Amino acid sequence: MTTLLKVEDLSKTFTLRSGLFGEIMSLEALSDINLTVKAGETLAIVGESGCGKTTLGRCIVRALEPTEGRVTYTPEPGRDVELSALKKRELKPWRRDIRMIFQDPMSSLNPYMRVFDLVAEPLRIHKAARGAELERRVVSTLEKVGIPRDALQRFPHAFSGGQRQRIGIARALVLDPKLVIADEAVSALDVSIQAQILNLLEDLKADFGLTYIFISHDLGVVNYLADRVVVMYLGHIVETAPTEALFERPRHPYTEVLLEALPIADPTRRSRRHEAVKGEIPFLGNRPKGCPFHTRCKFAEDRCRTEKPALRPINGGETHAACHFAETLDLKGAYGPAPATGTYA
Ligand SMILES: Nc1ncnc2c1ncn2[C@@H]1O[C@H](COP(=O)(O)OP(=O)(O)OP(=O)(O)O)[C@@H](O)[C@H]1O
Ligand code: SF4
Ligand SMILES: [Mg+2]
Repeated sequence: MTTLLKVEDLSKTFTLRSGLFGEIMSLEALSDINLTVKAGETLAIVGESGCGKTTLGRCIVRALEPTEGRVTYTPEPGRDVELSALKKRELKPWRRDIRMIFQDPMSSLNPYMRVFDLVAEPLRIHKAARGAELERRVVSTLEKVGIPRDALQRFPHAFSGGQRQRIGIARALVLDPKLVIADEAVSALDVSIQAQILNLLEDLKADFGLTYIFISHDLGVVNYLADRVVVMYLGHIVETAPTEALFERPRHPYTEVLLEALPIADPTRRSRRHEAVKGEIPFLGNRPKGCPFHTRCKFAEDRCRTEKPALRPINGGETHAACHFAETLDLKGAYGPAPATGTYA
């Protein structure tokens, strides 16, 4: 598979004022992020709330400016476009290729716009179509996501959460993008509706020839959808691996903890869940020295408190982990058989 997007040494620091005297505080939300997205794959980004998933997605599309690092998009083999070096105006054409779907379908849709106009808006902004061609593209995209023709003149509040997310997906797809970044695209939905939307995303991926970056805190969903997984903790990538390998044999203690929190089919194995991660996620403004996970890691040794482990390939394989002991720790994978491929239920 060819590389579609490359993120190199990306960091993002937020500066804010806090306290009685408005002291300036720096929060390093992303630290030295390196990853590649291959054309046609679904790459999941997982981790607890606040680990930097949304910030990463927003830095890729430059809805946020990275503090450091590069984002390179390869629309066709041999043509590299360094998105992070472009002026806003130069960025516009590439914004058609890389689209985002947002977590909350209600707040991301203007309540005063009708469905037709909501989906037509990206085409109008990018001057991608007008007149009959615009109408044809809006109607056909809405049909593909399962919104009927007779709903075109309704406002978002007339729809259920699942339908609103379908409209959000149509807004992302109407420009015929290559890469879609779905940020918690199903988290706000009921489980049965989640299944419908996940199946829809799978179908659309094939129809439109899409590549996905799928941001989620739900590893069950990720196991169903993703080819590869990136695990983040406190703004760092701590593990990245093909999905099956990650679920079978995690190499970072934090990944094991995330897998422990998955629902368990086999009740005899439930006791391990109580070993789950201890302690609070540290505050970003006071990040631990050494390994960022050491304050919560049951395997932590002295070295972990002073020496930051690099993200490195493990046993020469595709899995990369940032743990001093990744090769030797005997970490447990997810319980029970992996969900069947095919339809998510
Ligand atoms: N605009 C901002 N100003 C200051 N801090 C921010 C800003 N946006 C995000 N942060 C901080 O950066 C960190 C990462 O936030 P981010 O929203 O990327 O996390 P996340 O992994 O997407 O979390 P969630 O699962 O809750 O969506 C958090 O500590 C957050 O408070
Ligand atoms: S480096 Fe140490 S603290 Fe960090 S994950 Fe590995 S064992 Fe735990
Ligand atoms: Mg988020």
